Amino acid sequence: MLKRISALVLAGLTALAVTSCGSGSGGTTSASSGGGDSTVTMGFSQVGAESGWRTANTKSVQESAKTAGITLKFSDAQQKQENQIKAIRSFIQQRVDVIAFSPVVESGWDPVLKEAQNAKIPVILTDRAVDSKDTTLYKTFLGSDFIEEGKKAGQWLVEEYKDSTDKVNIVELQGTTGSAPANDRKAGFQEVIGADTKFQIVATQTGDFTRAKGKEVMEAFLKSTPDIDVLYAHNDDMGLGAIEAIEGAGKVPGKDIKIITVDAVKDGMQALADGKINFIVECSPLLGPQLMDLAKKVVKGEEVPARVVTEETTFTQDQAKQALPSRQY
Ligand code: AHR
Repeated sequence: MLKRISALVLAGLTALAVTSCGSGSGGTTSASSGGGDSTVTMGFSQVGAESGWRTANTKSVQESAKTAGITLKFSDAQQKQENQIKAIRSFIQQRVDVIAFSPVVESGWDPVLKEAQNAKIPVILTDRAVDSKDTTLYKTFLGSDFIEEGKKAGQWLVEEYKDSTDKVNIVELQGTTGSAPANDRKAGFQEVIGADTKFQIVATQTGDFTRAKGKEVMEAFLKSTPDIDVLYAHNDDMGLGAIEAIEGAGKVPGKDIKIITVDAVKDGMQALADGKINFIVECSPLLGPQLMDLAKKVVKGEEVPARVVTEETTFTQDQAKQALPSRQY
């Protein structure tokens, strides 16, 4: 009996230790939300706080959990896969009802997803996909079609240069290496512009979805690559950092170098309205309400669609001016 009690105490302490792992490694923090039916507990592992999009996404998830009466255990992985794996293991130990996460990169998830499956805890992918062949490892994937976003960026460019036969030199700021949005936005864009050889990507590098990296990489592009016509940045933040670099080099963003970005967060939309960006493909971060709805259903054992695609649009400079006053994020 005494042995059994000691074992239980030890198991409890271990769970506690995992729960409070150091904040530097993306420790799990627990926030209980009020209101409604609070029988569902969700463990949510967020990528980090790398961009305006991410901040808006976190707010959407936290507020929607509160509204839905779901208790949210929220963990920030600081853009590190190992932190996300640790957080998911901690959620399993805490026996949450459902795990949701936005995978920082696409590969390497099968072992931890199998652990969740063995523990009979359903998993929902939100925002980003994994490349697991075994799709039974998660119940559904809620988020944007990143390939389509890349295609929309390419289609705008093709239209913009339809009357020109000159070569168009493009530099590309990629998102986090190995992440679904970086892979897919690149592929979709390439598929569209690849049909015409006048479009050439003359330099491409990751800016890790951050403003600081976007600026740093663009500064290097400007030094190493003469005659840049177009910048394609996989998100607004990198585009905004690049604008600083372009202005620092004495060039006019939006005119000397045309700029296409993805997201349509407020700062990006402001730069678009100001003429510094030429076109933005929207990627909505407001996934919280749909996520909570799906979570309640999977916990009840109800069928959910395997894929839920977010509705999105695109913005020109004039459209940005109109949309800005009511933009939520
Ligand atoms: O996964 C969505 C992407 O991640 C957003 O486009 C980007 O801003 C974020 O960091």
